[in-house]
Amino acid sequence: MSEEGARKRSERSTPETMSRTFSASVYRAWRTKEEVADFYSNSVGNYDQDSRVERYKGPVIAANAMAKYFGNNIPQTKVLDVAAGTGLVGEQLQNRGFKHLDALDPAAGMLEQARKKNIYTNIYCEFLDGNRLPIDDDTYDCCVISGGMGEGHIPCRGLNELIRLTRPGGLVCILMNESRHPQCRDYRDGLEQLIKELEDAGKWKWLSRDRVPKYAFGDDGVRFTFRIC
Ligand SMILES: C[S@@+](CC[C@H](N)C(=O)[O-])C[C@H]1O[C@@H](n2cnc3c(N)ncnc32)[C@H](O)[C@@H]1O
Repeated sequence: MSEEGARKRSERSTPETMSRTFSASVYRAWRTKEEVADFYSNSVGNYDQDSRVERYKGPVIAANAMAKYFGNNIPQTKVLDVAAGTGLVGEQLQNRGFKHLDALDPAAGMLEQARKKNIYTNIYCEFLDGNRLPIDDDTYDCCVISGGMGEGHIPCRGLNELIRLTRPGGLVCILMNESRHPQCRDYRDGLEQLIKELEDAGKWKWLSRDRVPKYAFGDDGVRFTFRIC
């Protein structure tokens, strides 16, 4: 192999480039929503190792934002980790003293890993896709999503259900890759518009939209926070 070929090959196989390849293969249009859940379930193997904190900061940033918001009430705060996957966000929340954590994700294989960590009380194997979830209104003080938004993942219409599940005064915190936003047709055409419409309708107050440098695998992210009205 030529020197140039060897260099390109070694660049291709760094953990970062492998993770980006994984991301590109997963954040895309799928034929059915079940396909994406099966994909995650079948490729869970090295997820935690590949997504460790030096590479993927979403769980730490989400947990820090929530710890700041809930302050002295952390031990009583009830949280739903949406698109929980293997529980990376839950682990970070637990490290900061959160004790009442539930998880929701449609990928049974990811949830199986999460279950082994003994972080969550209730685990829901469900999609957030705008359909009504089997959870009562105002159950949570906070719903958090890190990594669950992108092409083929949680659609805009899922936001209404987050509002239903979170009590008035509670927090919704969403972290996503910044480039996923314009790349995903559903979001590009409607995410921030819907966020604003929900604010105008008095459903939530849009507290912040913060840029998160090097959120995941060197790519920047964005963090949205909302207070439910
Ligand atoms: C990149 S992983 C993020 C997992 C975890 N939050 C983390 O930070 O490691 C994306 C997760 O979104 C889940 N997901 C995909 N579509 C979803 C939907 N409609 N509702 C809820 N979760 C979904 C996948 O099953 C997968 O576990």
